[in-house]
Amino acid sequence: MQTIAEKLRLNRQCIGVVMTMGALHEGHLSLVKLAQQTAGTVILTIFVNPSQFGLNEDLHQYPRPFEQDTALAKAAGVDFLFAPEAESIYPENYQTTVECSAVARGFEGERRPGHFKGVATIVTKLFNITKPHIAVFGEKDAQQLAVIRRLVEDLNMHINIIEAPIVREKNGLAVSSRNIYLSTQERDGAAILYKGIRHAEKRVAEQGHNLQEIAEEIEKMINATPGCRSDYVGFVDEATFEPVETAEAGIEYRLLLAMYSGTVRLIDNGKIRA
Ligand code: PAF
Repeated sequence: MQTIAEKLRLNRQCIGVVMTMGALHEGHLSLVKLAQQTAGTVILTIFVNPSQFGLNEDLHQYPRPFEQDTALAKAAGVDFLFAPEAESIYPENYQTTVECSAVARGFEGERRPGHFKGVATIVTKLFNITKPHIAVFGEKDAQQLAVIRRLVEDLNMHINIIEAPIVREKNGLAVSSRNIYLSTQERDGAAILYKGIRHAEKRVAEQGHNLQEIAEEIEKMINATPGCRSDYVGFVDEATFEPVETAEAGIEYRLLLAMYSGTVRLIDNGKIRA
């Protein structure tokens, strides 16, 4: 892959990369589309990265429909599909990791210790392997996107990071590879995350500047939905991901939500302007 990427660069091709863990869905395909609008050559990576999963997480159950993914990638017009084996990415004597500090600390970083270290490490490695000019990541994983932006800036990577909007199902549920774990009933219940975002937009638009109070209202809404349990709801500063309790007029904040639907953990987020 490195040799191919180097040749593409020598031929003055603009390389775009879309990194995924497979189980491709509409959301991933929207990232590919966005990459194709900016780059002449698009590389799609599929790698279920073990180092970003915690001990009690779903690494071994994570869906791996490789043939279906290959067909979807082809149909989407991807130029190269890079799908390495774990042993070639992390050989026996592997020792190096990449870690981002403040922006990776709260929310997902707190609930999933080591997760962002695993993400920052694999993203750095895949950047080095695919040598892209641009990379598209989904807004769905907003904190991951903030970590990657920090990483690229701090390590002088000279890659343009493009943010792709969240793709939602009809009921508002954000499209995710993990949605296949949900029953029809759970899918309906999980739409409460999107209702929470809409509630926040409405409350903030009505001059509700006490963000802490609004977050508590959303937690109550989630916990009142059968089968749903809130993990966290909070507003953060868009760049630093530091929690914010009181809104200032004219500023845009990011509302972060995580909840359990049965045993399935789901995350979502929305931009809220005060
Ligand atoms: O968002 C994902 O699917 C993963 O975290 C990523 C960026 C492909 C790294 O493994």
